[in-house]
Amino acid sequence: MEGIANSRWLLTLCVPFSPLPQAWRAAMPRVVPFYAVKCNPEPGILKLLNALGAGFDCACKGELDMMLRMGVSPNRIIFAHPCKRASDIRYAREHNVQYTTFDTVSELHKIAQMNPDFKCVLRIRADDPDARVPLGLKYGAEVSEADVLLRTAKELGLQVVGVSFHVGSACQNLSTFSGAIVNARKVFDEAGALGFNMELLDIGGGFTGHFDEMGNVMFGVIANTINAALATNFPPEMGVRVIAEPGRYFAETSSTLLTPVYGQRDRVAADGSVKKDYWLTDGLYGSFNCILYDGQNPGYKVVRSPLMADSTDSRTFLSTLWGPTCDSADCVYKDVTLPVLRNGDWLMWNNAGAYTVAGACDFNGIEFTTPGKLYVWSDSAVDAAEEGADEQVMNA
Ligand SMILES: *Cc1c(COP(=O)(O)O)cnc(C)c1O
Ligand SMILES: *[C@@H]1O[C@H](CO)[C@@H](O)[C@H](O)[C@H]1NC(C)=O
Repeated sequence: MEGIANSRWLLTLCVPFSPLPQAWRAAMPRVVPFYAVKCNPEPGILKLLNALGAGFDCACKGELDMMLRMGVSPNRIIFAHPCKRASDIRYAREHNVQYTTFDTVSELHKIAQMNPDFKCVLRIRADDPDARVPLGLKYGAEVSEADVLLRTAKELGLQVVGVSFHVGSACQNLSTFSGAIVNARKVFDEAGALGFNMELLDIGGGFTGHFDEMGNVMFGVIANTINAALATNFPPEMGVRVIAEPGRYFAETSSTLLTPVYGQRDRVAADGSVKKDYWLTDGLYGSFNCILYDGQNPGYKVVRSPLMADSTDSRTFLSTLWGPTCDSADCVYKDVTLPVLRNGDWLMWNNAGAYTVAGACDFNGIEFTTPGKLYVWSDSAVDAAEEGADEQVMNA
């Protein structure tokens, strides 16, 4: 217990993780998930998904290398970065990673020069402007640009084999998915007319994997929408392989963040009112970078230190939660109402697995990128009878 209390913070890879792959397969049996490694390259997540037969979306040499070293076959990897660095392309070529995305003429020239054997997937723009993290400003060709891109690929002698899109992270708008699938079909037809052998549809990421009170994954509506759009635009007899690149879906609920309070102060205003300042072991340079980059608004609960007597103070105060660096901008929350915390009490943050520690840096010499971790495996969350069946379906 002493060790746990002293940890900078803890990440628990936890109970609700294993129902997520099952729920995915049940909801979208045609769509094979290629986990987006950038969301959380936690080995526990990667190894579990690998064991279940998932594929992986890697964006650079570092991520490709991590997955290949884990024993993932290159044909279960998509190099899904539309604008690749030369050194990353070289690495992919040397390691036989075949599938990659593109959305510019410039990228096609680079591919023609460096790895003309790539199986190229045209990423089209499909953003939900209301997604928490829209991506269309940076990536995705307009459908109107597809013709020029496809003709350029043809002239360069490249193989275009599919279409991908990403609706934006944490997409809420169902018609964005179905609209993107309709557009993907248009591009398939254009490419087919130019003589390309189109075999892959990649519907990207943007899914959330939350649970209702009964512990069921809430995924049904979006999956139904996608299934219907696939049935209409990519009927099974077309023989198109369908994959997705979920990141948040698998990672978000997998982890719980615990941050001990390790310092505090009262600030008394001119009118005599008191506000509290608390210092936490994690901040904006660590896992709470998700507040800046991922638009998250993380929720917390107070966890009393098991090493101290019960708190008898029932007062609450407006409180500010500071991160541990010397930067005054490193503030997690300002003026939130909290009970009186003691040094050694913790705040517990659920659903802290997506775009948190993955984006942390060790600014100020603080080890944000290497938190203490506690892995939890709950038998009750695993239906043993289902496990063998899982593998078969994911490998399909
Ligand atoms: C980040 C990213 C993903 C994962 O997105 P989620 O919203 O976490 O599902 C998938 N594909 C690409 C190309 C990405 O950049
Ligand atoms: C959902 O997206 C579609 C297409 O992008 C748009 O026309 C529609 O207004 C959006 N709906 C909502 C509720 O935002």
